[in-house]
Amino acid sequence: EAAEKGGHDYFMLKEIEEQPQAVADTLLGHFANGRIVLDEQRLSDQELRDVDKVFVVACGTAYHSGLVAKYAIEHWTRLPVEVELASEFRYRDPVLDRSTLVVAISQSGETADTLEAVRHAKDQKARVLAVCNTNGAQIPREADAVLYTRAGPEIGVASTKCFLAQVTANYLVGLALAQARGTKYPDEVAREYLELEAMPQLVARVLETVEPVRALARELAASPAVLFLGRHVGYPVALEGALKLKELAYMHAEGFAAGELKHGPIALIEDGLPVIVVMPSPKGRAVLHSKMLSNIREIQARGARTVVIAEEGDEAVRPFANHLIEIPASPTLLQPLLATVPLQVFAAEVAQTRGYDVDKPRNLAKSVTVE
Ligand code: G6P
Repeated sequence: EAAEKGGHDYFMLKEIEEQPQAVADTLLGHFANGRIVLDEQRLSDQELRDVDKVFVVACGTAYHSGLVAKYAIEHWTRLPVEVELASEFRYRDPVLDRSTLVVAISQSGETADTLEAVRHAKDQKARVLAVCNTNGAQIPREADAVLYTRAGPEIGVASTKCFLAQVTANYLVGLALAQARGTKYPDEVAREYLELEAMPQLVARVLETVEPVRALARELAASPAVLFLGRHVGYPVALEGALKLKELAYMHAEGFAAGELKHGPIALIEDGLPVIVVMPSPKGRAVLHSKMLSNIREIQARGARTVVIAEEGDEAVRPFANHLIEIPASPTLLQPLLATVPLQVFAAEVAQTRGYDVDKPRNLAKSVTVE
């Protein structure tokens, strides 16, 4: 078993290291002759063109990958996208018809709530595309089409490399829709794809520079709580960072949309409380960056210990960061592939410092097959 863990104490640590490969393998074969190829046989361009609304349904970490997808798909396709927890979707009587595309994301392909959501969508005649990591699992079997994330088997109960692979697959779904609908010119789709193809290398660079994150995690391991703040695609990253810390380290952790600070979370800030902030690129949408700067300033003034994940060369944020974690520059929509990685490493290191089994957190199962 030690060999299978590739020299790591836990499978999860190996799986975190495997993320550049998981992203690269998920892209493999999906771009040919200047076009995105999803699944030629089972979801035709005509069917993609007919889509007038998208629902993304999933649970847990897969749900967070869906939240990232919303920003990309809406931006690229101008289609309305709703992202829902599968357990809520199923019993809410959602409005679906044959021009609705339901994207069901599941690592295992066996999660009961997601499977039931798929069945409900099919009953309503919606088209169902599964994004799944497990060949031949129930959800891809019942879906109309499937896009496999090729992250390889994930042993750690809490998902890491499958999250990055899901986010990647979701971008492919968005680009395929944009291509079919003509909301982006073919050369624009190709350009976006090439940016995506460059991401594995950048994920690898993040992994090479995470040692200080581990040191910081050991320092903060006794903290009673940690808050996470993000905006735009940084918001789902904040939610995922908090989920990892709950799952692995049993620490009270909450992710918030930074714009909601004044509507509650700021009341939680007290002296020394660690707050991890995901900073958008300063070269992306300037308004996002400046809003986040003022959010950090506000919490720091109230005593928060700020841990800031920011793009290399983001000098403006430096004065407000008690700890700065730098990640390479990337297009705004793709940043979650980089910004999530230090948060996974952080949660795993806090858990190990606290003496917990990172692969098998208490009370959790790899796949929840009962509703
Ligand atoms: C469980 C796992 C999570 C996973 C979630 C959804 O809670 O512990 O890591 O994100 O199920 O699983 P799925 O297989 O549907 O992606």
